[in-house]
Amino acid sequence: MGKIKKALITGITGQDGSYLSEFLLKKKYQVYGLVRRIALEDETHRLWRIKHLLNKLKLSSASLESYASIVKIIQKIKPDEIYHLGAQSYVAYSFEDEFSTLNTNINGTHYILSAIKDFSPKTRFYFAGSSEMFGKVNKNRQDEKTRFNPRSAYGISKVAGFELTKNYREAYNIFACTGILFNHESPRRGFEFVTRKITSSVAKIKLGNQKKLFLGNISAKRDWGHSKDYVKAMWLMLQQKKPSDFVIGTGKMHSVKDFAKLAFSLVGLDYKKYVKFNKALLRPAEVDTLRANYNKAKKILKWKPTINFNQLVREMVNSDLKSFK
Ligand code: NAP
Ligand code: GDD
Repeated sequence: MGKIKKALITGITGQDGSYLSEFLLKKKYQVYGLVRRIALEDETHRLWRIKHLLNKLKLSSASLESYASIVKIIQKIKPDEIYHLGAQSYVAYSFEDEFSTLNTNINGTHYILSAIKDFSPKTRFYFAGSSEMFGKVNKNRQDEKTRFNPRSAYGISKVAGFELTKNYREAYNIFACTGILFNHESPRRGFEFVTRKITSSVAKIKLGNQKKLFLGNISAKRDWGHSKDYVKAMWLMLQQKKPSDFVIGTGKMHSVKDFAKLAFSLVGLDYKKYVKFNKALLRPAEVDTLRANYNKAKKILKWKPTINFNQLVREMVNSDLKSFK
């Protein structure tokens, strides 16, 4: 039997962290998670996405804002792979508090890379980049060569993380990759993101517990995939001979309106009767459209999405109907 591989996941309590944990456990990894101290004190609320896995995971508390706490964990575990998913991930909030978004997202990434360089240089590193790095796009589809033009502190923080990752790869020979992932959703998506906001509201409206759904810019278009498909791409990136950066998406684009229309229609309702506009939900600078060209991933990683838009919306609506009943 080969050596058991060790993976450390930051952001293990989030949507992707939970699916990635399941994926790696199936592959017989020993999975470690870095969580905030407060999470260990409030398991019911903060660990709900991984509660079914808790007896298989090794969780340690640390802070992405503290280099010392990160060093301690990396020195102790010396993981084969680190998946750095922990971040302030809500774009709208990054307009409310640019400072904490930039601090957590940029410093957290920098601290981990620096700790790998000094204490565990063989560790392979995955950075959770984002299509928000492309921001205001001037090409129909975005690939690894598309110019970055971020529109929020969140997007800027991810560009900085991307550049740090590239620099540690080039300067110190660290096996470090960025996955430039387009929007991906699931029944475990946070409620503030538009897809989950819509599917949870559809369920509550259908069950008679909510009357209206307030949204901002419903003309915005995104390339929406399923988180389960995307965590596999993260792993594949770290199994290659050479580190590189990859765009991950579906290549298909839909508007927020399309999403709402389909979600309401699945429970026999007309979205026009329930969806209302709220100006306060518009962003100071919007990203209008995002659509991936994932040819490089298809060719090198042999990756492609398996869950389409209709299946995704259906799974999310059904799951919310079930849980709100
Ligand atoms: P998520 O559900 O919002 O999870 C974010 C994770 O980061 C949570 O575990 C959260 O911990 C942790 N975190 C946030 N601030 C932290 C801090 N100050 N210290 C320590 N941990 C902190 O996000 P996701 O959808 O799984 O996304 C995972 C990563 O991919 C993020 O970096 C996100 O920016 C990036 N990304 C996501 C998408 C997408 O469409 N989902 C697309 C591109 C890139 P708590 O539970 O304690 O808050
Ligand atoms: N959240 C939210 N709430 N978004 C709304 C609403 C609303 O009520 N109404 C319209 N939208 C529009 C937003 O303006 C945006 O154009 C789009 O819906 C998607 O918003 P979110 O679901 O909040 O996601 P995001 O695209 O800003 O960011 C997500 O995807 C990125 C990858 O492109 C996050 O997961 C990021 O972490 C990720 O990097």
